[in-house]
Amino acid sequence: MCGIVGYVGPREVRPLLFAGLEKLEYRGYDSAGISVLNGEQIDLIRAVGDLSFLRDAMAENSNGSAPPVVADGTGIGHTRWATHGLVTEANAHPHYSTNSRIHIAVNGIVENYVTLKESLVKDGSVFTSETDAEVIAHLIERHYNGDLTKAVRDAYQDLIGHYAFVAMSVDEPGVLVGARKECPLVVGRGEGEQFIGSAVPAFLKETKRVQYMNDDEIVVLRPDGVEFLTVDGEPLAREIDEVDWDADTAEKGGYETFMLKEIHEQADAVAETIGERAAAEDSIDLGDLGQISDHLLRNISRIVVVACGTSYHAGLVGRYAIEEWARVPVEVEIASEYRYRNPVVGPNDLVIGVSQSGETADTLAAMATARNAGASVLAITNIVGTRMTREADGVLFTRAGMEIGVAATKTFVTQVAAFYLLALRLAELRGALAPHDLSSRIAELKHLPHLMSEVLDAGTATIEKVADQVYKQNFFMYLGRNSSLPIALEGALKLKEISYIATDAYAAGEMKHGPIALLDESTPVVVVATNSPVLSKLISNIQEVRARGARVIAVATEGDTEIDAHADEIFRVPATNAMLSPLLAVIPLQLFAYFIAGHRGLNVDRPRNLAKTVTVE
Ligand code: AGP
Repeated sequence: MCGIVGYVGPREVRPLLFAGLEKLEYRGYDSAGISVLNGEQIDLIRAVGDLSFLRDAMAENSNGSAPPVVADGTGIGHTRWATHGLVTEANAHPHYSTNSRIHIAVNGIVENYVTLKESLVKDGSVFTSETDAEVIAHLIERHYNGDLTKAVRDAYQDLIGHYAFVAMSVDEPGVLVGARKECPLVVGRGEGEQFIGSAVPAFLKETKRVQYMNDDEIVVLRPDGVEFLTVDGEPLAREIDEVDWDADTAEKGGYETFMLKEIHEQADAVAETIGERAAAEDSIDLGDLGQISDHLLRNISRIVVVACGTSYHAGLVGRYAIEEWARVPVEVEIASEYRYRNPVVGPNDLVIGVSQSGETADTLAAMATARNAGASVLAITNIVGTRMTREADGVLFTRAGMEIGVAATKTFVTQVAAFYLLALRLAELRGALAPHDLSSRIAELKHLPHLMSEVLDAGTATIEKVADQVYKQNFFMYLGRNSSLPIALEGALKLKEISYIATDAYAAGEMKHGPIALLDESTPVVVVATNSPVLSKLISNIQEVRARGARVIAVATEGDTEIDAHADEIFRVPATNAMLSPLLAVIPLQLFAYFIAGHRGLNVDRPRNLAKTVTVE
């Protein structure tokens, strides 16, 4: 949550900060601001709303004040997702110390801010916001004795919580000091200039040379170099990595929205994720999984998946595949619940944390709970260098590329593909599938991106037509059974998060135990009715729904004519192995949600109240 960007160097700071914030807006967009060194003062510009409001405020500010200083350009910027304090200009970052000489941009939560604030106020600090983050500026001022780095180190020791921040001081032009604890912060290395941000896209247009920060580290940026330090001031070595992302991948590439572009990238993303891992006909090669050895995979007695939101739904699909193919029992847990239970977990368990961002606070905490109890921990994530990758015993990377739309699409399908790979590898190692069946499943998996392309290339006329007919409805029910149930859940989540329409998603067999009471003639019921061992049971459930007059929109397999008599509208997907059909069935539902939100005139890339990376619990 929240995006931080910073720059030191010879160039005009404002456009660089603004460009960085644009790339980080997915992390939060209720308000934004920048602080730029301007001679003997720091110019602070903040605005409530998305970045267009900040742009206007910046234009006004530069008309009315002296032109910004160009040499020794020093500045920080922030885009906010509110945690403490309302969405107001005063609560927008950057925040500043009582003497206004120190400015900070913060991501995360300061848990002991009440106590700190009381003591700072007693000492004469004057607070101007309701945020927890502002205490950091005042603490740095309290410790400041002509050395910003030392003051940040001292302030860091006073703080409890999880946060990343960057500080600047009027008294030290050309210096930025960052600190990180459990929230992301990455340095971008330039020639005679340096960048810092919550994520690589913040400066990807300027440099691909990055240095990742770890927790409990301080970083000092000057135009001519970067120093990494422990909180005690000991220097740390840090290699420079070259990221291979193309800046263009972060752009919309001709599509109207990032979400639509990312939906259309799904076949490639799955092909990329499967890639050489399924190159052989009869074996899966998961590459280097760190300490998650073949021996361990052969001997674990249970798998527990911990995740949130869409990643949780990927875990649910994974459960069906692992149990079906590898015969290993799997539990799938909502991370925010798991972390505060006293779960029965231990050395015989493999706990898998799933997170596209690799920074979701609840998932990280759930993984830590399991690790502390002696379980082995595997991460399935999309982003290299995130906290999750460092804290797991092994990582199975998805290869979705950068996903900007807040609604997860291509990261979801790659997570599911990662589970398929893992399920087949487990089946292979444990001899749970006969060699012939293993080879057949591998062949079907490799063919899946081709089938996904067929769905994407088939055109969206039917989906758009139905979306046009139902977009004014205020409630949708989604149903599924077996491996199509997670897709019903995911379809319902997609619709509610981007269209703000109430949805419910249920195992179809549960309908008669309560939810069926919700249905009347006006309720659209979306049923994921692709080929499955329980399709006939699902069709019985559809009949129960139709008997209440509800309108049935089905996702069904090409060639299945039986469904024709039971559904009002049908979105067709090609036939494949029932266990793999979730990756096809989800596409029409993503598009359905997309077109409904579009008809309602909503910004699908940045739905209200949400953020791409949820680093708070
Ligand atoms: C999905 O569309 C949502 N944006 C959300 O549910 C998301 O999947 C969840 O916050 C988990 O995020 P993660 O994968 O980064 O951990």
